[in-house]
Amino acid sequence: MKEWQINICIKRRFGKGIRDEDMKFHVLTLFPEMIRNITETSIVGRAVKNELISVETINIRDYSANKHMRVDDYPYGGGAGMVMEAEPVYRAIMAAKQDKATRVIYMTPQARVLNQTKVEELALEEELIILCGHYEGIDDRVLQECVTDYVSIGDYVLTGGELGAAVLIDAVSRFIPGVLSNEESSQFESLQDNLLEYPHYTRPELWHDKEVPKVLLSGDHKKIEAWRLEHSKIRTQERRPDLLNQSYQICSLWYGNDATRESAELLTARLSRYGQLYDYNRRKLQKTRTCFQKRQLLIFYLQAEHDTPSERQPARAEGPVYMTLRERYRNLYGQETPYVLIYSSKEEEERMQAETEEFRMHMEKRGFVKLQESIFHPDFSEKEQIRIALQIRANVAEIS
Ligand code: ADE
Repeated sequence: MKEWQINICIKRRFGKGIRDEDMKFHVLTLFPEMIRNITETSIVGRAVKNELISVETINIRDYSANKHMRVDDYPYGGGAGMVMEAEPVYRAIMAAKQDKATRVIYMTPQARVLNQTKVEELALEEELIILCGHYEGIDDRVLQECVTDYVSIGDYVLTGGELGAAVLIDAVSRFIPGVLSNEESSQFESLQDNLLEYPHYTRPELWHDKEVPKVLLSGDHKKIEAWRLEHSKIRTQERRPDLLNQSYQICSLWYGNDATRESAELLTARLSRYGQLYDYNRRKLQKTRTCFQKRQLLIFYLQAEHDTPSERQPARAEGPVYMTLRERYRNLYGQETPYVLIYSSKEEEERMQAETEEFRMHMEKRGFVKLQESIFHPDFSEKEQIRIALQIRANVAEIS
């Protein structure tokens, strides 16, 4: 039994208050120490220690079918270099899988380059098997049989897949609840919007005749946020204009009571650093014609019977008047603009069936395209909240 498996067994047996990790990585490699060196330090090392993730290394050589523990052989057809044999790789994969349908990722330069969308897609899994090649490659038959994803970390050739595996583990781990502290997570958010980070400054105010932009010293948070968004866009335009073609602005439209507002605020923050909230309790907004663009994503937060007035919008003397979705959002226009419907519970989804059917037809006529419907509630666990946000982002990535 491997050290890692023993660890899990102990947890199961004595596990009061101890839980299984939220993500298990199994790395198949001929150089386990390379993976260990990287995953025992820094934020990933801390996450392993805190049992939020686990990184099991499996030495492919241990699964050699050969008494000399050899795992490679000459290539059929001749040529330079050696090829890793199919059988040891197959056995190592089976040992990691243990009859589960875990995805098997092969790190190779012959693949699409890893990006944030792929990272987020993989973060939805509970376990991942990462296969690192060496020499000239691995016998293609075992790859055809077992590999579900081919991933490159860049258009250059490394000596093996281990550095790529470490990159993948690091990027995926950031999405596991608790891995990043609040401070750490806010540092990285802007790529969520397909924007590069704005420039950062710290003391002193004047360095080599260069001043810190005045607005950052103003203490005016609204102005600072606007400056940051503007400079994120400028920087993206200068350095990675290709990202701008994939970016969507998140627009969250809500009506209902404070619980609905809280849902909207929470999910919006998980989706975007620069998301916009529209409070459709406000009559003025309901009456205003609003046109949305193709590159905006509308998220509607629904509440079937909203008779609990919002803090911001106290009930009128005559009491609240229930409006259907269609009536409330009668002044919206889109240009193939995608939208998402969010219910706060399964029961609510059922209760609103007829109303949402009418709303969907109305939206279709007005130039909107439905992306998905989900259930989201502020009481959901952090893990569940992240999962829903990642699902929406994966669907957006698919249409962009
Ligand atoms: N193995 C060798 N080169 C690689 C690369 N660029 N990405 C992932 N794995 C690799």
